[in-house]
Amino acid sequence: MSASIRLGIVGGAGWLGGAIAAAALEAGVVRAQDLALSYRSARPDRFPGALWTKDNQALADRSDVILLSVRPQDWPALAVDARGKLVISVMAGIRLAEIGAKHGTRRVARTLPNAAAEVARSYTPWIASGEATGEDRAVVRAILCACGLQDEVGSERDIDYLTGLTGSGPAFPALLADAMMRHAIAFGLEPAVAQRAVNTVLTGTGRLLELKDASPADTVEAFLGYRGTTAAAIETMRAAGFGEAVAKGLAAAFEKSIAMGEA
Ligand SMILES: NC(=O)c1ccc[n+]([C@@H]2O[C@H](COP(=O)([O-])OP(=O)(O)OC[C@H]3O[C@@H](n4cnc5c(N)ncnc54)[C@H](OP(=O)(O)O)[C@@H]3O)[C@@H](O)[C@H]2O)c1
Repeated sequence: MSASIRLGIVGGAGWLGGAIAAAALEAGVVRAQDLALSYRSARPDRFPGALWTKDNQALADRSDVILLSVRPQDWPALAVDARGKLVISVMAGIRLAEIGAKHGTRRVARTLPNAAAEVARSYTPWIASGEATGEDRAVVRAILCACGLQDEVGSERDIDYLTGLTGSGPAFPALLADAMMRHAIAFGLEPAVAQRAVNTVLTGTGRLLELKDASPADTVEAFLGYRGTTAAAIETMRAAGFGEAVAKGLAAAFEKSIAMGEA
């Protein structure tokens, strides 16, 4: 990959677009003077040296790589001619072929980061069109590595599945944390103490999983081995349908992802 790319982020004022811009700048994948970001409502006061514009075509014209980070429902109204350029989408549900046809390029990558991009800890699956070059793939990898870990996957169906599993993924430990918090409050714990306790369990577990890189089944098995409070809780949660609830939720996310692409 060449030293710094000229990157244009459509929807750069949004959550994910801004997080990717920050991560790419921090990692040195793009220099501020080579970065353009578009906004629709309010111009954010961040990324000094970068160009902020409301004109998406002007953004595309000065960039070699155009990253689409608007919500899927705003994409049909987006008119950008990206002929001769690499277009990278982070939009859930929208297919490679549709993106290429709308923006006039066959060099397209479909990626699905998650909210942890904001702290450079996203897991991002991606796939590129057959016409994307080796250099294009290197650019996609560099941007996504700046945001965390990435994998090039074999099919768009994998992306549709991972849209739920990892795109929505940060919401699931958050859901578990919320359930733990509610229980702790109902027990009578001080809310501030409960919140600190629950959040620290999550961040500590995340760090442990990251360092050990063990399979989740092995981790659970290790906890079960103590036959104490943890085993009592895990076995009761399993008997109450924990596994089935997660499986049903992930299946619903997959169906929704497919439906979003067809809408
Ligand atoms: N957030 C996540 O965790 C996550 C994870 C995976 C994938 N994604 C995908 O990432 C995309 C962005 O999500 P987000 O959470 O960052 O949403 P967001 O915070 O709403 O950001 C989208 C931004 O796009 C702007 N926008 C819409 N149309 C525009 C246009 N024509 N020109 C310039 N800017 C325009 C919006 O402006 P306004 O302020 O005027 O609305 C908004 O600032 C979505 O397609 C989503 O599927 C998000």
